[in-house]
Amino acid sequence: MHRLLLLLCFTLSLAPAQPPGTNYDETKVPKYTLPDPLVMADGTPVKDAAMWRKQRRPEILALFSEQVYGVTPKAKVKLRTEVLEMDKSAHGGLATRKQVRVWFGPASDAPFMDLLIYLPNGAKGRVPAFLGLNFGGNHTVQPDTEIRVTKSWVRAKGNVATEAERGTGSSRWPVDMIVKRGYAVVTAYYGDIDPDFDDGFKNGVHALFPRTSSANEWGSLGAWAWGMSRAMDVLEKEKEIDAARVVLHGHSRLGKAALWAGAQDERFAVVISNDSGEGGAALARRQFGETTARINTAFPHWFAGNFKQYNGKEDTIPVDQHMLLALIAPRPLYVDSALEDEWADPKGEFLGALGADPVYRLLGMPGLLVKEFPAVEKPTLDGSIGYHIRKGKHDVTDYDWTQWMNFADRHFKRAAR
Ligand code: GCU
Repeated sequence: MHRLLLLLCFTLSLAPAQPPGTNYDETKVPKYTLPDPLVMADGTPVKDAAMWRKQRRPEILALFSEQVYGVTPKAKVKLRTEVLEMDKSAHGGLATRKQVRVWFGPASDAPFMDLLIYLPNGAKGRVPAFLGLNFGGNHTVQPDTEIRVTKSWVRAKGNVATEAERGTGSSRWPVDMIVKRGYAVVTAYYGDIDPDFDDGFKNGVHALFPRTSSANEWGSLGAWAWGMSRAMDVLEKEKEIDAARVVLHGHSRLGKAALWAGAQDERFAVVISNDSGEGGAALARRQFGETTARINTAFPHWFAGNFKQYNGKEDTIPVDQHMLLALIAPRPLYVDSALEDEWADPKGEFLGALGADPVYRLLGMPGLLVKEFPAVEKPTLDGSIGYHIRKGKHDVTDYDWTQWMNFADRHFKRAAR
């Protein structure tokens, strides 16, 4: 009960009150025209895969960097790792649990993230993995008392994590179910990478890089995406994991970050967006649920300064979110929504995925096989873009995990288990 209450408070604290005047009426969505992912900014049509790859893809990537998420610093940071702890008989012998500290830089006081890794025991050869950041600290992922309690600030300046939160996020991380299907689970606390509050980009990994002109400076979504890529750097060196089969996933703000990471870093084999909404998979031009003005006001530290000029003027953004999804092509992409998560605009998320379809097709991939907003819990698992809407709220559930693993199995040509 105590746990449930904590989880509830935690969830509520993440979701600011939805402002009056938010449109939830489909008949009141004004008409909009999406920019064509297959037409260059100067109007030239993209005629083939080579032109997409060499011209249009870099153009779209640069627009998202400059206008939306901010520019990710190019400078390489040398990572230092240390295995803090390992137990080969975790989860009743199903898994090996490993905790690896990853320092961003050689300095002894460099910032670090702790990776929590579960490897399925008894696997033949390297295993595919699901990588995703968590919201509350690694100790919230499972009730296991061996998991280190994060020392990073949680949600607000000076707010520390506590023992009482242990396992409170475990319904979102069904480790047993995942390792039984032969996948490794890898996670880290997003606040280890960049604490989620507006501090003028002074803390977290932002502090590792020189400040730039604020207009295109990277925000927290960019920093979390960067952290996902650093986790991938570590996985490339983990001998039990097949780095060519890493599925990147993220829920809500971390779904936005996962999409941005997957767009920039092509090492991620599959990318999953769960309830990512505004600034994620949902079309910004569709006026339903959260708006650009609202997200920029409630979370001024998430995006580049430039993005604020589009508050209330979504029609003038040179990109829309279907183009972010198109940057994942030709790699498999999975988008999912929840029926009661209207704030994230489920239909806008579906239309975002559909809008990426022409790019997949140009690249010779099957794209999204459904063209109409599907019925609840009728997942689309074939094709290179998967989608489902499930019943229930803004959350990550076993239903979602089951579809993600079914989708990944298909793409990795693994027999269903
Ligand atoms: C808020 C925010 C959303 C975000 C969500 C979350 O509701 O408005 O854009 O996705 O928090 O990350 O839980």
